[in-house]
Amino acid sequence: MNFSNFGNRFTKPTGVSQIMDDLGDALRSPEPVNLLGGGNPARIEAVNEAFLEIYQSLGEGGLHSPAIDAITNYSNPQGDAGFIDTLVDFFNRHYDWQLTRDNIALTNGSQNAFFYLFNLFSGQFSETSGEEETTTQKAILLPLAPEYVGYEHIQVDGNRFVAVMPEIIEVEHNGEDGFFKYKVDFDALENLPELETVEIGAICCSRPTNPTGNVLTDDEMARLHAIAKRHDIPLIIDNAYGEPFPNIIYPNVRLTWDEQTILCFSLSKIGMPGLRTGIVVASPDVVRAVDAMNALVNLAPTRFGAVLANPLFVDDQIVRLSNDIIKPFYAEKVATAIELLKGALGDTPMRIHKPEGAMFLWLWFKDLPITTGELYNRLKARQTLVVPSEHFYPGVDTDDPVGGYRHAHECIRMSITGDERTQKEGIAIIGEVVKEAYANG
Ligand SMILES: Cc1ncc(COP(=O)(O)O)c(C=O)c1O
Repeated sequence: MNFSNFGNRFTKPTGVSQIMDDLGDALRSPEPVNLLGGGNPARIEAVNEAFLEIYQSLGEGGLHSPAIDAITNYSNPQGDAGFIDTLVDFFNRHYDWQLTRDNIALTNGSQNAFFYLFNLFSGQFSETSGEEETTTQKAILLPLAPEYVGYEHIQVDGNRFVAVMPEIIEVEHNGEDGFFKYKVDFDALENLPELETVEIGAICCSRPTNPTGNVLTDDEMARLHAIAKRHDIPLIIDNAYGEPFPNIIYPNVRLTWDEQTILCFSLSKIGMPGLRTGIVVASPDVVRAVDAMNALVNLAPTRFGAVLANPLFVDDQIVRLSNDIIKPFYAEKVATAIELLKGALGDTPMRIHKPEGAMFLWLWFKDLPITTGELYNRLKARQTLVVPSEHFYPGVDTDDPVGGYRHAHECIRMSITGDERTQKEGIAIIGEVVKEAYANG
């Protein structure tokens, strides 16, 4: 089929399509697969019970029930009005942000929000001064690579990123060594030529970071905010795993917002990925832009997720679920995975990124004689799915013989959401395959 340039760009295989295909195939497979790949949240019974209770109550009233109302009517393009009002109250109750309903828009998952935001703030810009029109190409600045795979390939003009490679420091975790942490390299960042010529349209980071579980410190965030302010560009914070929900974040850090900031939340990681609900908190002009784009792309965002989630936010049940159930659940999963990994690979050069949040471990196999792309294939042949690191460098040509970055071929992302069998068997197989690669290439 002869597709447009846009069509060709948006239909070619990408890191995201591979991860989502692996995930869908594994969930359908008749054979047990050790799914340590995609970003599906775990099934947590106590959380699902809360969803089920609301789901059943939404049907009360039969044909005149809230469920039928949500199914049979579009919302405004901005999103379900009742849920937006609830969110305004919720955020103002917990933070000193003084939001109004002009500060919130809903999207079909936060992936949908990133498609809008990256296309609003990067690509081709035109300015007219008198008779003259000048055009500039602007990029999204990712201050700390590696970053979330889903940012790449969603800009309609083609990929436009400036990514800054991290400082790597050795750290302890719970008194044990064998861990490292990425830090923003502000020397490199502050001296980027692109910053001076203002070819950056926005700064974006996930916090906690997918894939590494890193949490940028309050100081790092303050410095990024100051850079955004100096250049009058938005600081987009992807809070898919952060506080106050699902709150899979361990260091004691602050979540801040002002009109320079665009905060993106998601209901997916509390356990509702199928309902595709994202929340954008931003200045009114950004919210109006998201509203307008929703109208064109979707007419309106899905209502059912909003209506189902609404009662959880009205009385802060979402906070209790996050603090008392979701966060401890993932903390325990991380501890088990680390113990299994140390058992399977403790005597190799493996290093683990300090787990500070999200639902992944980022493993660094220093000087592994094969790429982790090849490691992915060998593990897949043994029914074990992980994600190789090369996908997590949006905008970086990791194979470039000059600027190539070996580290980007030495890591894998491993999900910690699997059940006990998956974790045990998957990690045992990773241990065998990695040891064999270190020994024989
Ligand atoms: C960091 C991050 N941002 C955004 C998303 C998109 O999530 P959703 O579209 O389900 O809200 C994900 C999903 O894995 C993610 O990990």
